[in-house]
This record gives sequence, structure tokens and C-alpha cells, in this order.
Amino acid sequence: MTSVAPFLPWNRPSLGQEEEAEVMDTLRSGWITHGPKAGRFEEAVKSELGVEDAFAVSSCTAALHLALLAAGIKPGDEVITPSLTFCAAPNAIVQCGARPVFTEVDPVTLTIDPEAAEQAITSRTKAVVVMHYGGQPCDLLAFHKLADDHGLVLVEDAAHALHAWRDGLRAGSVGDLAVFSFYANKVITCGEGGMIVGRADLVQAARLLGRHGIDTSVWQRHGKRNTADYEVTVPGLKYTMPDITAAVGLQQFHKLPDFTARRAQIAASYDRSLAGLPGLRLPTVAAGARHGWFLYPVLVGPVGGRTRDTVAGRLLNDHRIGTSVHFKPVHRLAAYRYLDCHLPITEQIAAQQLSLPCYPAMTAADVHRVIDALHAIWS
Ligand SMILES: Cc1ncc(COP(=O)(O)O)c(C=O)c1O
Repeated sequence: MTSVAPFLPWNRPSLGQEEEAEVMDTLRSGWITHGPKAGRFEEAVKSELGVEDAFAVSSCTAALHLALLAAGIKPGDEVITPSLTFCAAPNAIVQCGARPVFTEVDPVTLTIDPEAAEQAITSRTKAVVVMHYGGQPCDLLAFHKLADDHGLVLVEDAAHALHAWRDGLRAGSVGDLAVFSFYANKVITCGEGGMIVGRADLVQAARLLGRHGIDTSVWQRHGKRNTADYEVTVPGLKYTMPDITAAVGLQQFHKLPDFTARRAQIAASYDRSLAGLPGLRLPTVAAGARHGWFLYPVLVGPVGGRTRDTVAGRLLNDHRIGTSVHFKPVHRLAAYRYLDCHLPITEQIAAQQLSLPCYPAMTAADVHRVIDALHAIWS
């Protein structure tokens, strides 16, 4: 009987007894919604990043929506953002009634190109939402200057980059606001969750909008005021992170340095072992960057009859290895085709890009399995 190798997924979370204990503590505490644990998680991220304030929310998408609302984005405004990203930022822009203006990425780092962004500025431009692709920060210094020079709000979509630096600046600490994702496949996870950090006035505005526009949180009123003793000062939304979720996030955040070190080790193994395969372009880390390696993104050029899709197909069908694609360019998705964008660099990258498994739960044998499989496909 031949034994079939177990499926190696593209991504799997690393959760342990610490998260279990913290969740049990929360369940037994009598307070399971946004409260003390969310506060501790916010404080931990805030102090490590050195930002003025932080608010834990239900997803990064919620954080993006709140960031743009807090920044005053409204119908008629334009917001510059890359197309080589997840749909969350463009969707949030549209939900504010504004128009996303998609710009090109740097073909080497795959992060938003500051020169292309500058060329896209018009009198209607109000904000730029940059994205730190796969854990590689974009050129933070250039975007900080661009936002200053043109009076724009800078939002960092740091969904992939909770633990990454460029030119000595930590991703998520430079923009007026930055957002993080704790979705199931992210560098740390609590299933679904996000955080918005940055300038105190803007995070406070986001906090108000994210709890219905109510002036105090339920936890702040608990035991001190009648629960119904509140005022709604603006028409808001409900985007708070519950404490059950924050309990997981808190413990995951303590593990982030170890997770990042392991991701970097895996990336280094791939760098060493996959270099030189014809047509396979490995990731380039920008000078001055410390990559967070949420993704290990390769580009499969059309050499030897191989394409990204044939390689992904053989990894899955012949070797039982999962991969992913980051991303389908947003301007090519049905909801955005009306914008009729011309972004040849983005389109070429998107046609060739493949994300290999790269996460702390992988064993050394898992990493070798991926390497051996790629060598077999190239042989
Ligand atoms: C770049 C980027 N931004 C935002 C998001 C949205 O994150 P969430 O699922 O937490 O809303 C994602 C999710 O994959 C993402 O990749």
C-alpha cells in the first residue's frame, strides 16, 4: 500500500496552552465583550510601536473603514492605493463614498511606488492608503514626505506587517493611522480581529465611531454608572473586539518575536535552496528593510513551459502542498472594472505571483518537502 503524504496547507495558525488559558480566564471572569483584555492588548501594541493610541476592533476591514471615516473621507474624495492588494482597503474607500485611485507598485519590492502615487495626486486627493506587501514595508520615508508635502492623510495598511521595519521605522508607526489584521492566516491571529493605531485624535474619533458613536464604553460604565446612562454623539457602527478574542490576541502578541524569527529562518532556507531555478524569481528585500515574512512571494516566469498556475497545480496535485496568490489585482475584479485602469506592472506581477507556505507551525521536514517538490517540478 502506498502512503499518501498529508496535505501541507499554505497557512496554519500556531495556538497553544497560553491562548487556551487566557480564553478560559476570560470565560470565567464574567466579562466577555470589549473590556479589560481588549484594553491590555491595545496597551501592549501601543507601547511596543510607540504610537499615541490603539483601538482593538473586529477586523482589519473594520479598522480601515473607521480610519477613513475618522480621517473625514467623504463622497467626491479620491484615495490613492495600490491595486496589488486585498479588496478591503478599496472597499472601505468606496463605502465612504470616495473613489479609489489605483497606482503601480515597485516591480522589485512589490510595494506601492511613491513616484506613481505622487503622479496620481489631484485636487480631490485626500488620503493615501499604502500597503506593506507580504510583510515588506513600503518606502515609509518617501510616503511620509509625500503626505506632508501634499497635505494628505497617510494610512498604513499593515495587515501583513506587525513586525517589520524600514529605514529604522517600524511599520504601523509612521502614518497618521495604521491598521493591523489578526485574521486566521496573519502573523498573529485571534480568528477575526484588527487594530487601529496612530494619532490620538484620530484613534479617539475611530473609537467613538466604532462603538455606535456612544460617548463611553460599556466597560467604562460597568459598576460606576447605569448601563443606559449614555449619549450617542455621532451616528456610528459596531466594530469592537470582544475580550474572548482579545485574550487570544494578547498571548499571540507575546509570541510575535519568536514567530517572526521562525518565518525569517524559513525564508532564508527558501532563498538558499531555490536560488537559480530558471524563471523563478525569489523575493528581494529592500535596502534598509527588515521583512516580516508574512508571505514568501515568488514570481514564476514563463520558462520551460512552466507558469504560476501549472506550478501551483503540480504542488497541489502531485505533492499535496497548498499555495496562495497575492493578489488578483483589485482593478481587474468585477466591482472595480468600471474604473478602467491601466497598470501593466501590477498585471504582470499578479499573473506570475505565488505564495509558498511560510509559517511558524511548519517543521524543518515541511520546509524541505516544499523545496524538494519545487526541484522535482523544475527537473
Ligand atoms: C492587505 C490586507 N488588508 C486588509 C485585509 C483585511 O483583513 P481582515 O480580514 O482582518 O479584515 C487583508 C486580509 O487578508 C489584507 O491582506
